[in-house]
Amino acid sequence: MSGIDTDCITLTRYVLAEQKKHPQATGDLTQLLTALLTAVKAVSSAVRKAGIASLYGISGTANTSGDEQKKLDVIANDLFINMLKSSFSTCLLVSEENDNVIQVETEKQGKYIVCFDPLDGSSNIDCLVSIGSIFGIYRKTTEGPPTVKDALQPGRNTVAAGYALYGSATMVVLSVGNGVQGFMLDPAIGEFILTEKNIKIKPRGKIYSLNEGYEQYWDEATKEYVKSKKFPESGKPYGGRYIGSMVADVHRTLMYGGIFMYPATTQSPKGKLRLLYECNPMAYVMEQAGGKASTGTSPILDLQPTEIHQRSPIFLGSKEDVEDVEAVYKKHAK
Ligand code: AHG
Ligand code: MN
Ligand code: MN
Repeated sequence: MSGIDTDCITLTRYVLAEQKKHPQATGDLTQLLTALLTAVKAVSSAVRKAGIASLYGISGTANTSGDEQKKLDVIANDLFINMLKSSFSTCLLVSEENDNVIQVETEKQGKYIVCFDPLDGSSNIDCLVSIGSIFGIYRKTTEGPPTVKDALQPGRNTVAAGYALYGSATMVVLSVGNGVQGFMLDPAIGEFILTEKNIKIKPRGKIYSLNEGYEQYWDEATKEYVKSKKFPESGKPYGGRYIGSMVADVHRTLMYGGIFMYPATTQSPKGKLRLLYECNPMAYVMEQAGGKASTGTSPILDLQPTEIHQRSPIFLGSKEDVEDVEAVYKKHAK
């Protein structure tokens, strides 16, 4: 009669169960993800403006303390750094917001490296459109103190990756290398509940997604591919959708199928999106869901990074749609 599920699978429970499949596992990844989820919950709460009355005062717009409010991306970054450092499971962090790698204090060090975009879609913050956080987790593979080199691993080495979407609800999409699972935040109990089991992306979609305003800056392959979606030789054209928050655009692509693109442009010849904490985690999730992620000519996950903030062009989503792009690139390379 009552609609309460008394045996729901929380994200922590899922990760624990996955951990038990590997008898040699120490539980450190579970600890890391728990800390990361605390940051995500706090960011979600801030995004939803919880506590706004005390910040602005009952009567008007003045901040009661007189301090300037910290920007949401700074709050998110501080939360991720503090929670991850104090989880005793990480040794090195790479954040979009920090020029250099962040070393974890020796006494708090663990074996994992985390690359993250604490708040993705910043241009959408002030108009209340969906934003997100992205993360990729790697194991330190060398002996001795962590250095920047430890963070420069190809996406293939990913141990776990995913994102949080602060949309009409908050969802965490996670892969620990065994498919992709979606967990919805239940604000009533502050837990992430497994609601989308073993997410698989359609082999072909009907939606293309990119910033079409930059068409004059695209390479010829991108121009030809997009044109082929708008003016197909047969059948209906694809629909166009572009939110401008990578997490939201990728999540829609994952759920509905289709293709998300941020190609190289003459203005930014390597594209805009960052390999370590935008492209790689999303590429990992896509591949785990049966989709693909490509630079146009090679899989994103095979790129060997040389700098922590390097960029890469990216085409990701339904397998056949990404293969279509690769075919056009191949033709133009001749
Ligand atoms: P961030 O807010 O972390 O800087 O990332 C913004 C990114 C990404 O979310 C989105 O896909 C892209 O910028 C949009 O760029 P354009 O405005 O050039 O389309
Ligand atoms: Mn971003
Ligand atoms: Mn960001």
